[in-house]
Amino acid sequence: MPKPNATTQGNRCTTLLVWLVMIACALLIIAVIITGIVVVAIYMIYRPKMPYIEVADAHLNTLDYDQSGLLDTEMTLTIVAENDNFKVHASFSDASFNLRFHGIKIAELRAAPFDVPKNSSFPLYYRVPSSTIPLDEAGMETMDMALKQGIVPFSLDGQARTRWKVGIFVPVGFWTHLSCELRFFWPNGTVVNPLDCSSKSH
Ligand SMILES: *[C@@H]1O[C@H](CO)[C@@H](O)[C@H](O)[C@H]1NC(C)=O
Ligand SMILES: *[C@@H]1O[C@H](CO)[C@@H](O)[C@H](O)[C@H]1NC(C)=O
Repeated sequence: MPKPNATTQGNRCTTLLVWLVMIACALLIIAVIITGIVVVAIYMIYRPKMPYIEVADAHLNTLDYDQSGLLDTEMTLTIVAENDNFKVHASFSDASFNLRFHGIKIAELRAAPFDVPKNSSFPLYYRVPSSTIPLDEAGMETMDMALKQGIVPFSLDGQARTRWKVGIFVPVGFWTHLSCELRFFWPNGTVVNPLDCSSKSH
């Protein structure tokens, strides 16, 4: 048998290497496809929905305002954390909201971390007293106008961090943001409907 010379041996090595690389690539592609199918299947089974927060009810109990511009209010607010996922529970943390009149912060609302079981909701009840807030010139004008019209506008903004786990995935965390206007009939304090105050993205 003729001994293969150095060149053909080198060629054989190269061919082998090319084959190994091609097989590795094929395995990688198959792995990527299988992962994709698993991800889509889990998504179809769990149909994940982003948990959100919304204001379910509000009432203005007290509104003391004098012509020196001092404002004193008390409000009851029900904020609900919703988890519409049928198969996974969600947890909320770092919930914090600011209540403002004409951009001036009159109270801050917070909540300790809590869990919302699958397909359910968790209500947070607040009785929000404000300390006496001095309004600026523009704030006083807005309040005078509001009282004349019989509708007093406040705004609520804030956020909460939600974490939820879908199937085998590691929990994902999102910030869900709330920013809306709450308007109340005064003197009866009834909230003006529709109460469109939700962090759900439309
Ligand atoms: C989710 O909750 C609603 C009402 O609370 C109930 O009617 C429905 O059957 C529940 N769905 C599942 C899949 O648990
Ligand atoms: C509060 O006052 C407004 C405007 O006067 C009225 O439309 C509303 O029905 C009142 N709400 C209640 C609960 O009486």
